Amino acid sequence: MSPGPVMTIRPMTVDDLPGVQAIESASFTTPWPTHAYRQELEGNRLAQYLVCVMGGVIVAYGGIWLMVDEAHITTFAVHPRYRRRRIGEQLLLALMDLARRRHAREATLEVRLSNLAARRLYEKYGFRPVGIRPRYYSDNGEDALIMTTEPLELPVMLDRIARLRTELAEAPAPSVEPDPDDGAAPVLDAGPRRLATATRNGGLG
Ligand SMILES: CC(C)(COP(=O)(O)OP(=O)(O)OC[C@H]1O[C@@H](n2cnc3c(N)ncnc32)[C@H](O)[C@@H]1OP(=O)(O)O)[C@@H](O)C(=O)NCCC(=O)NCCS
Repeated sequence: MSPGPVMTIRPMTVDDLPGVQAIESASFTTPWPTHAYRQELEGNRLAQYLVCVMGGVIVAYGGIWLMVDEAHITTFAVHPRYRRRRIGEQLLLALMDLARRRHAREATLEVRLSNLAARRLYEKYGFRPVGIRPRYYSDNGEDALIMTTEPLELPVMLDRIARLRTELAEAPAPSVEPDPDDGAAPVLDAGPRRLATATRNGGLG
């Protein structure tokens, strides 16, 4: 018999911020401060943030800005002890569904060139490299790779998403048990980090 759903994905609230901050600090060397997330939730009507919850624990979160006809992924992380369980995939799928419901034509993001795990995930979901932002990350001057999908309503994208959704539905549900704490250090701040651009690189754009 199926154990039933063990993970839910829902909009982030301010009550989630301690859990989000724990993942943020464990995932990025230059984490966004809690007040930045609070400001996003309370003051940015373009922003939409989601959390993944398993057994009452926040295990992942991500966000988009819906700007004109584009969904820009601003941040995205899975708790280090819950990675490689297709949680990232489910969250990305939920963000892309949200983008389509809000009539975004396409989705886009920036990612560190060196962040191969995230690049593979995005490629799997139809994001393609379209350009470079030189020295985008102020901590080490690394370039950002700009990745963008084809229009979300194109048959090629709809087919890809439908196939991946089916594969995810057929995969075993992710275990709620965390991996042992192996003392993994945060990865170099890796993400799309749109807000980070404002706080770390001196201005949006
Ligand atoms: C990138 C990240 C979100 C992936 O989350 P995850 O839940 O572990 O990923 P999933 O289990 O859903 O994996 C989905 C796909 O991503 C890719 N992937 C994920 N981790 C990978 C790794 N360590 N190496 C290579 N590919 C990887 C694979 O394509 C995988 O599909 P496959 O299993 O069919 O090969 C997670 O590693 C993370 O939070 N990293 C730190 C923060 C970060 O980099 N955020 C993204 C910023 S752009």
